[in-house]
Amino acid sequence: MLRVDIISIFPDYFSEAFEYGIIRRARAAGLISIQPHDLRSWTTDKHHVVDDRPFGGGDGMVLKAEPIFAAVDSLVGARRSEEVPNGKRVVLLSPQGRQFTQSMASEFAECEQLVLICGRYEGVDERVAESLVTDEISIGDYVLSGGEPAALVVVDAVVRLIPGALGSDTSATTESFLDGLLDYPHYTRPPEFESLKVPEVLLTGHHAEIAEWRREAAEAKTKRNRPDLLKE
Ligand code: 6GU
Repeated sequence: MLRVDIISIFPDYFSEAFEYGIIRRARAAGLISIQPHDLRSWTTDKHHVVDDRPFGGGDGMVLKAEPIFAAVDSLVGARRSEEVPNGKRVVLLSPQGRQFTQSMASEFAECEQLVLICGRYEGVDERVAESLVTDEISIGDYVLSGGEPAALVVVDAVVRLIPGALGSDTSATTESFLDGLLDYPHYTRPPEFESLKVPEVLLTGHHAEIAEWRREAAEAKTKRNRPDLLKE
């Protein structure tokens, strides 16, 4: 059972997010538990302040270190990244992180606990990234107003890799990025729609020719949409 704890200033953002599809099934089957937490519950001051003005000046507010350290201490029992036990990860979601990849998703899927800290785009006190987390990750080269959508992305990518999470007729290993190519194109009925035709070979039942067509189509699509993948 993978336990996922999400630390956010907007815990209600996640209220329905894990109640659909594969994530809902994985939770119902006891393969994963997902718990959003309100960062404010780890503040000790009267007004539950989680942010403050940046030292050195500048725009925007910065998430304070103390409530985040307290949250990780209570959820993991660690006050420094070196104290985080094997099999657990404390992850800061921020645009300054390393790019999240399928291989990171595979590593996370084998963990017993994942703590996802949702930053806000103005910033998080850097002592969190320096001394508390085991990983600082970004989901891509664009700026989000907070880490919450990224937490959803990470949970989705991880859950579908947990053994038993996908139905028996689907396999996480036959899809995109397996051999460094995008997935091949898929079609279903009808064979012609507003004069748009399904490639003839797919209607023939010739399995070897279909496999060859799919390979070539996957390469063509990768060359067009993701030439960077072909260079590796
Ligand atoms: Cl993890 N957070 C924010 N705020 N922006 C991002 C991101 C994360 N990944 C890409 N852009």
